[in-house]
Amino acid sequence: MSRFWNDRVRGLTPYTPGEQPKLENLVKLNTNENPFGPSPQVIAAIKGVLDEGLRLYPDPDGQSLRRAIADWYQVTPQQVFLGNGSDEVLAHIFQGLFQTGQPVLFPDITYSFYPVYCGLYGLEAVTVPLDEGFRIDPAGFRQANGGVIFPNPNAPTGCLLPLAQVEEILQANPHRVVVVDEAYVDFGGESAIALVDRYDNLLVTQTLSKSRSLAGLRVGFAVGHEDLIAGLERVKNSFNSYPLDRLALAGAEAAFADGEYFQYTRNAVIAEREKLELGLQALGFNVLPSAANFLFVRHPEHDGAGLVQGLRQRGVIVRHFNKPRIDQYLRITVGTPEQNISLLDALPLVINEM
Ligand SMILES: Cc1ncc(COP(=O)(O)O)c(C=O)c1O
Repeated sequence: MSRFWNDRVRGLTPYTPGEQPKLENLVKLNTNENPFGPSPQVIAAIKGVLDEGLRLYPDPDGQSLRRAIADWYQVTPQQVFLGNGSDEVLAHIFQGLFQTGQPVLFPDITYSFYPVYCGLYGLEAVTVPLDEGFRIDPAGFRQANGGVIFPNPNAPTGCLLPLAQVEEILQANPHRVVVVDEAYVDFGGESAIALVDRYDNLLVTQTLSKSRSLAGLRVGFAVGHEDLIAGLERVKNSFNSYPLDRLALAGAEAAFADGEYFQYTRNAVIAEREKLELGLQALGFNVLPSAANFLFVRHPEHDGAGLVQGLRQRGVIVRHFNKPRIDQYLRITVGTPEQNISLLDALPLVINEM
């Protein structure tokens, strides 16, 4: 605490990112990064712009990347907004498109950045409990609100809400923006981008951090009605006109150009997820059905925090949330075949020692 902090900063509860350990040789399964590297075409494209052109500012509107994303999803560039990671896109949405005076609604178990943005922008929040199977219940989103947001698949559960139920939530809130955060949708979901031309209150966010293996490049985007996008542009141009640098723009565009690599790595992650799920079940874990690149699991007989601690001592790091309803769960990112085997080999030893 410093006497120079203003009241807003004193009241903040910032987000705690997953650990990025300095030690090498750890099996790092804690922050849902893609275990496979980015497309070689992405690396080549970034190298291709590493020249004296860096003295110039990048395109403030990222027109070329917007067109590439628009072509991928069969929408117009005016329906696409870019940000420095989808976290920045989300921040602008909370600031510019959610109404004050009524609470923002999101699930009780969800991405823990949402309450942080409410705190930052002075928005009230109300959480809607997941059902006993940890699924989102559309009925909970019928109450008065200033906006709605949920990930699909949800995080950290990995559970998918079918598009018909996403539509129920959209139809119940015609006068409020409903944000579907699709950070993990490429690993098993059906994107709500298919619905943007039918619902002017729908905004879908996605990221290149997961399915396109570019967490280090920081590129995210939103797709929705062009009036929503124009509102986000107003916020962005009142904050930072150049959120994406020249390297990020070039790399991201190349990622969309290499559809073959995207399909290959996404299928590999899905196949590994299925193998890992079977391996964990064989060790007695309950595994929630996941459409993401991670699994949310608990062991009926062993304490969650103890398992996380024991794994850590054996060089395997997974994520644990010390929060109501989920403190017995581990969130495990799907790794390479070798990493997943290391985890499955370490677990019986950890359990034995408990
Ligand atoms: C549900 C969800 N949304 C958004 C993000 C942010 O992703 P990024 O800022 O890397 O695009 C994450 C990151 O883990 C996430 O889990």
